[in-house]
Amino acid sequence: SILIVDFGSQVTQLIARRVREAGVYSEISPFSMAEEAFERLQPRGVILSGSPASVLDEDSPRAPDCVFESGVPVLGICYGQQTMMAQLGGAVQLGDSGEFGRAFISIDDRCELFDGLWTESETHQVWMSHGDKVTALAEGFRVVATSEGAPYAVIADDTRRYYGMQFHPEVVHTPDGGRLIANFARHVCGLAGDWSMAEFRDAKIAEIREQVGDGRVICGLSGGVDSAVAAVLIHEAIGDQLTCVFVDHGLMRAGEAEQVVGLFRNSYNIPLVHVQAETLFLNGLKGVTDPEAKRKFIGKTFIDVFEEEAKKIGGAEFLAQGTLYPDVIESVSFTGGPSVTIKSHHNVGGLPERMNMKLVEPLRELFKDEVRALGQELGLPKAFVGRHPFPGPGLAIRIPGEVSKDRCDILRKADSIYLAEIRNAGLYDAIWQAFAVLLPVRTVGVMGDGRTYDHVLALRAVTSTDGMTAEIYPFPSEFLARVATRIVNEVRGVNRVVYDYTSKPPGTIEWE
Ligand code: XMP
Repeated sequence: SILIVDFGSQVTQLIARRVREAGVYSEISPFSMAEEAFERLQPRGVILSGSPASVLDEDSPRAPDCVFESGVPVLGICYGQQTMMAQLGGAVQLGDSGEFGRAFISIDDRCELFDGLWTESETHQVWMSHGDKVTALAEGFRVVATSEGAPYAVIADDTRRYYGMQFHPEVVHTPDGGRLIANFARHVCGLAGDWSMAEFRDAKIAEIREQVGDGRVICGLSGGVDSAVAAVLIHEAIGDQLTCVFVDHGLMRAGEAEQVVGLFRNSYNIPLVHVQAETLFLNGLKGVTDPEAKRKFIGKTFIDVFEEEAKKIGGAEFLAQGTLYPDVIESVSFTGGPSVTIKSHHNVGGLPERMNMKLVEPLRELFKDEVRALGQELGLPKAFVGRHPFPGPGLAIRIPGEVSKDRCDILRKADSIYLAEIRNAGLYDAIWQAFAVLLPVRTVGVMGDGRTYDHVLALRAVTSTDGMTAEIYPFPSEFLARVATRIVNEVRGVNRVVYDYTSKPPGTIEWE
């Protein structure tokens, strides 16, 4: 395994992800606990992460001495490289100007990290983000790559197998970064590269058993992939100590509630309480047109209903959630300054404090595509784990203006035609999210010999890697024409269909 010593960089989890992609097991340990983690894990290699701190600050963090005394290979990234120099006898200075963003490095010499990847006198794109820089090397090191702003862009001590990089190989803006990290893990540390999601699953199962003991766990299912994968994993670990609660707000897509309930009860035999709360939600949404008011009402009501059910079940000490790594970063402010609320996202975020329960969050270090892989590992149907993301407040935020049962039904029907056509065309997996939006606007049309005066429906489809930014999906016009015709012909209440051509930013993915 590899131990990743975390000095607090925003992207440390990406290092772990790249190591996982190389088929190698890793653990992240905060620097303050790294010595203990090193003793326990006995890793074959260590990676030192970046940090918002400066090596030049008094009391800035350091790697534990055992790392350098043990003789295992070490890779220092950005701050990790700087602290390695500071600890081994080199020097670091405040840069007169930092280097942030895309940069190019030239390869001056061979080194094991570059094997099969980079050769001398080539130039490669990397991602830099640093103020300070190394200005003198510790004994035994040589420079193997340089950039304009970083004369020590990559350094190597071939004897001790210590490597340092000023840039960040873990981010996607360093196109070869994943392969550099794989080279370190497999080639330099000699790890086999045969670790897989199956082992992640086993490790998590052991961890959940250890955390929960013989306690009881409640898991709120949203109908989405994340909470379903978390629930199935936890059920494998502790069986019927887990109870799932599915608060059905009646704002799901066509057939979705039935699908989730069927999957859990019949295929997995997981105890599931299906709370049918459509009337409660729709009554509360009467007259509510403001998007934030809708979101707040749905979030609050969800928590009320969930809490009541949890009380009925009784005796649960733990609350399970399908929190993913991007949810963790989004909820922490790194800027320190106030950030504007664009939308109050609804999930079970407010629950833990309110209910005074301990959290079980087995997916906290994973990214969406990894959760999908884990779901498949757990035997969830491919079509289920591959489903597009769906927001907690459901169809309510895809019906601008007032939400009603009729409008939900119209939208469900149109949306299912749209998605069926996307699946038929084989495009579903190429799209991050596709959905219909029912507008409160009516327009005039003509059907047969008659005049119609019905709703406008908007179609949206975007590609994205994390939902933070998005590009519109460029359907062929024949495809859109076919969908529009089917919807107008088959869905009563809609007589006009338009396509949303807005990327994010400036638009958001959902309309509200
Ligand atoms: P926006 O509309 O903010 O959406 O561009 C980004 C991604 O987040 C999803 N989304 C939500 N997910 N609860 C959720 O769990 C919410 O309240 C919520 N609002 C938006 C949206 O579908 C997209 O994938």
